Amino acid sequence: MGGSAGAPGLNCLVLGAGGREYAIAWALARAGSVATIGVVPGNAGTLLFARAPEIDPKDVPALERHIAASHIDLAIVGPDELVADGLGDSLRRCGIAVVAPSRDAARIEWSKAYAKELMEEAGVPTAAWHTYPSAAEARAALERGDGAVVVKADGLAAGKGVVVARDRAQALDALGSPTISTGMVVLEDVLEGQEVSLQALVDGETVIALPPARDHKRVGDGDTGPNTGGMGAVSPAPALPDDEAQDAADALIAPVARALVGRGTPFRGVIFAGLIRTRDGWRVLEYNARFGDPEAEVTLPRLEGDFGELMLALGEGRLAAHAAANPLRFSAQAAVDVVLCAEGYPGAARRGDVIEGTDRLPEGVYAMHGATRRVGAGFALADGRVMLDAGVVTAGGRVMHVVGTGDTVRDARARAYEAAERITFAGKFYRSDIGG
Ligand code: GLY
Repeated sequence: MGGSAGAPGLNCLVLGAGGREYAIAWALARAGSVATIGVVPGNAGTLLFARAPEIDPKDVPALERHIAASHIDLAIVGPDELVADGLGDSLRRCGIAVVAPSRDAARIEWSKAYAKELMEEAGVPTAAWHTYPSAAEARAALERGDGAVVVKADGLAAGKGVVVARDRAQALDALGSPTISTGMVVLEDVLEGQEVSLQALVDGETVIALPPARDHKRVGDGDTGPNTGGMGAVSPAPALPDDEAQDAADALIAPVARALVGRGTPFRGVIFAGLIRTRDGWRVLEYNARFGDPEAEVTLPRLEGDFGELMLALGEGRLAAHAAANPLRFSAQAAVDVVLCAEGYPGAARRGDVIEGTDRLPEGVYAMHGATRRVGAGFALADGRVMLDAGVVTAGGRVMHVVGTGDTVRDARARAYEAAERITFAGKFYRSDIGG
């Protein structure tokens, strides 16, 4: 247990504002080991059960002061951007347990070229690839092939840095997009097969698989339209049963964890592997250095045991001993997350519409808030009306993760879709084929 002052139990801090951070805070709230939870900056949903210290998550001196004053024991960093900025390093210097890799270890996410090099070094199967110093050089190389290629910006690009081009015109178009046209570019072969998101807790060479999930990245039914941050997810995943998760993590994540230790940059946090099951076996499409979003929303509800103690053990670098004494078990329940989005997403999303109906959900459904905000009377809504009472409004693209649970995926899905209808806001839309 941590060194909390006041009530016994852990004082926890979650960094981030979306559905993933809601799911992390929600899992902590169910843990007997946890005394307090703060979410910075959080959203209207986390305010219902957690504190929201008024701190900019990038303001490290303010975070340090808060950690000391509130006797924080454990911090968990959610978003890729904060992880890539090295917030894990800054928080660790406060002497607390931190679930987030160092900036150097997080390079597996913030440089696609580095991730490919590491996969090659570690012998992890992945698509054939080539790195180009600029989009212009990638463009010249494309003249020599048929153009069916995956185009990746080297750096982080808020879900907009990867395009699967079916022909040369699409590939050239991608190379001209603002997110890809500046900086290094990776071109790799297109692979066909079923995709799976596999997250694992990683502490140096210790790798513990979480329940596999499948997400739905494109905005439209039938996987049509542009890529998004994720329109929904399901766990268990059809292509990777729960009882094969650890073997897959041993084969596809552990070699890279060992390679990072070998390079003197051990990883402590969550590695998320985007996998595809091809005719020739599993291949890794990409690594992320954090929980997935919307994967966290369907996998954390399936974890048994005390999530606070698990995160503390990971953050303190004693995951192996903790897992030996408390083997991680997954519940047999299925979970399906249908993301309710605001009009315009994944482009500029409409904001400031009142959200209603989260208080009338079916049994077994959790409304995990994403881009939501609590506002006071007098707030001007998107349609020009003024609010008379305090309320919750939309504040971005992925507004609400409606997570249905049940004995089967079918039950979980039916519940999630029933709840998706009950929650209302102007401009709401969602995919109708999540988990199908
Ligand atoms: N769902 C994909 C991601 O979190 O990056």
